[in-house]
Amino acid sequence: MTSLDIPELALVALVGISGSGKSTFAHRHFAATQVLSSDAFRAMVADDENDQSASAEAFDALHYIAGKRLRARRLTVVDATNLQPHARAALVKVAREHDVLPVAIVLDVPEPLCWERTQARPDRTFGRQVLGRMRRDLQRSVARLGREGFRKVHVLRDVDEIDAVEIRYEK
Ligand code: CTP
Ligand code: MG
Repeated sequence: MTSLDIPELALVALVGISGSGKSTFAHRHFAATQVLSSDAFRAMVADDENDQSASAEAFDALHYIAGKRLRARRLTVVDATNLQPHARAALVKVAREHDVLPVAIVLDVPEPLCWERTQARPDRTFGRQVLGRMRRDLQRSVARLGREGFRKVHVLRDVDEIDAVEIRYEK
């Protein structure tokens, strides 16, 4: 069993391509109310969790709620791909504004497996190339996370390891 140490109060950014298992991981390890998912916020503002044109408004709302939670000293998990530097910068900013440690958990799962999972989902209709692009963004991202201000960066590569993870809270 792999233990992931996380501060009791943190802003946890999940980082991973579509199909890497972010939502599954979030559901397994955190309370539903601790998880802010970009899909849920797209649905809230646009009635469609896949409406990419709603992303700006959705993230605006997500960051706002993240700020409210951190202000109330509540652990908050952001379930979004978080593959773009600007997306992560917004999370580091809201964490810093509230004196909370930003933490990244990277699910670096083999792309063929992610593609297999994604194809099995009726609610994911993008093509193989999109996933390839995400994969390249992920590879670029991993090296940068520390410099971007994430105080802890956990990179999980092994699917069995991801399944066996245990979160350990540091005081
Ligand atoms: N899945 C699986 N075994 C795992 C993790 C996920 O079979 N250990 C399956 C899920 O049931 C789901 C699919 O793979 O059908 C994608 O997992 P999900 O957690 O939804 O991936 P996300 O990273 O959240 O994908 P997205 O970015 O598209 O939301
Ligand atoms: Mg998801």
